[in-house]
Amino acid sequence: RILILDFGSQYTQLIARRVREAGVYCEIHPYDMGEEAVRAFAPRGIILSGGPASVTEETPPRAPQAVFELGVPVLGICYGMQTMAAQLGGRVENARTHEYGYAQVRARGHSRLLEGIEDHASPEGWGLLDVWMSHGDRVIELPPGFKVIASTEAAPIAGMADDERRLYGLQFHPEVTHTRQGARILARFVRDICGCQGLWTPGNIIEDAIRAVREQVGGDGVVLGLSGGVDSSVTAALLARAIGDQLTCVFVDNGLLRLGEAEQVMATFARHMGVRVVHVDAEARFLAALAGVTDPEEKRRRIGNLFVEVFEEEAAKLEGVRWLAQGTIYPDVIESAGARTGKAKVIKSHHNVGGLPERMRLGLVEPLRELFKDEVRRIGLELGLPHDMVYRHPFPGPGLGVRILGEVRKPYADILRRADHIFIEELRAADLYDRVSQAFAVFLPVRSVGVTGDGRRYAHVIALRAVETVDFMTARWAELPYAFLDQVARRIMNEIPEVARVVYDISGKPPATIEWE
Ligand code: XMP
Repeated sequence: RILILDFGSQYTQLIARRVREAGVYCEIHPYDMGEEAVRAFAPRGIILSGGPASVTEETPPRAPQAVFELGVPVLGICYGMQTMAAQLGGRVENARTHEYGYAQVRARGHSRLLEGIEDHASPEGWGLLDVWMSHGDRVIELPPGFKVIASTEAAPIAGMADDERRLYGLQFHPEVTHTRQGARILARFVRDICGCQGLWTPGNIIEDAIRAVREQVGGDGVVLGLSGGVDSSVTAALLARAIGDQLTCVFVDNGLLRLGEAEQVMATFARHMGVRVVHVDAEARFLAALAGVTDPEEKRRRIGNLFVEVFEEEAAKLEGVRWLAQGTIYPDVIESAGARTGKAKVIKSHHNVGGLPERMRLGLVEPLRELFKDEVRRIGLELGLPHDMVYRHPFPGPGLGVRILGEVRKPYADILRRADHIFIEELRAADLYDRVSQAFAVFLPVRSVGVTGDGRRYAHVIALRAVETVDFMTARWAELPYAFLDQVARRIMNEIPEVARVVYDISGKPPATIEWE
């Protein structure tokens, strides 16, 4: 396995994803994890990430010395290369010309890392690589034993290698997709240079997880809150395979779900896969708790609290349950770790059943804790979940509660469900669903005048929202074709008499958010 030491780059997770895509297991740890911890990890290779610091600072962050003493291959990326150079006796300076974005790198000298990898050939016979650069500092003197393997105008030493000790540095970022050969370079490092086999495949991941879960829970009962979202669904499918009827899922229907969602969850898990699912119809309780509440944060708080209350009531009825399973995935873990160490910015507090395990004295089972979303999806498919479920757009925990602006009322939820369903159905029919990252309808409790054949309508407004985004931190509104929007708007206004008008949201994030509340 590969150890990735994080110096705080926004791209560190991408390094891990590319390594996993090469079929090799890896973990991200903070750069100051300590000498002992590095040795105990026993990595087959180490990657030092980029980061915002500068080696020229008075006390720059440094890699543990063990990194260079273990005798395993090391790849330093951006800051990682600079600290490697500085720690091994080279020199780094604050460059006058900063390089950000696209650059063309000329490969030079022969090294195992870049051998035979190129986008174009240069007239002099060297390979040229189209890469993504982002740096202010640069290496100006190689450490002893190293040679230059890549250069650009602004950074004559854009890559360095000591093939004998298997130490490599790259100034550019191989982990981002703009570096077209990046995935190949990282695969070359972890597979050929570190000698890791490509054993990290969906089938193996499932087998490992099953073994680990069986070992952890023995013959005890496990309870899982099933939401219908990707993470909890894959957790359910995995646990069903691992421990069969020791698993009980609790599905809380809060009345704020999408059209047909409850039926789909019950059909997939209870009928199809034979999983025991307790279906709690709590619509009335949720609507009562939300009556008269208009503040978005207060709505979120009430929905979250009531969910925990209902879930706890149901779980307490089950016999022999010692474990609570959760669909926590690797980015959640890194995010909360980042929040603790302050190395990465907290993006979104994910909502899990907070506080419950301690209160109910349950142990935690988190079989997806080491997996990225795309890995979760692949094992979901491998476990037999339907494609549509596994590749579904994200849906917020508070559900339609934050898509009905202001007070939540049942008639509003019913209207919104129908409108949202039409939008999604049309997106799928037009093959646009997978081309947008998230799409949904929003209910606006204002009224607008309309005219229908022989009468006047004075009814509500539905807003359509579709965005394109990679990480949901920033987003662009999707440029859906006018003819498509026209078709969706007509259907909504014709099929739902309570809607007099349909509008399309053209706000980006920032300054707007993806959800309306
Ligand atoms: P915003 O609206 O903050 O949304 O731009 C970013 C992503 O997060 C989802 N979202 C939530 N998910 N509980 C959740 O589990 C929430 O309260 C919540 N609010 C927003 C949103 O759907 C989008 O994918």
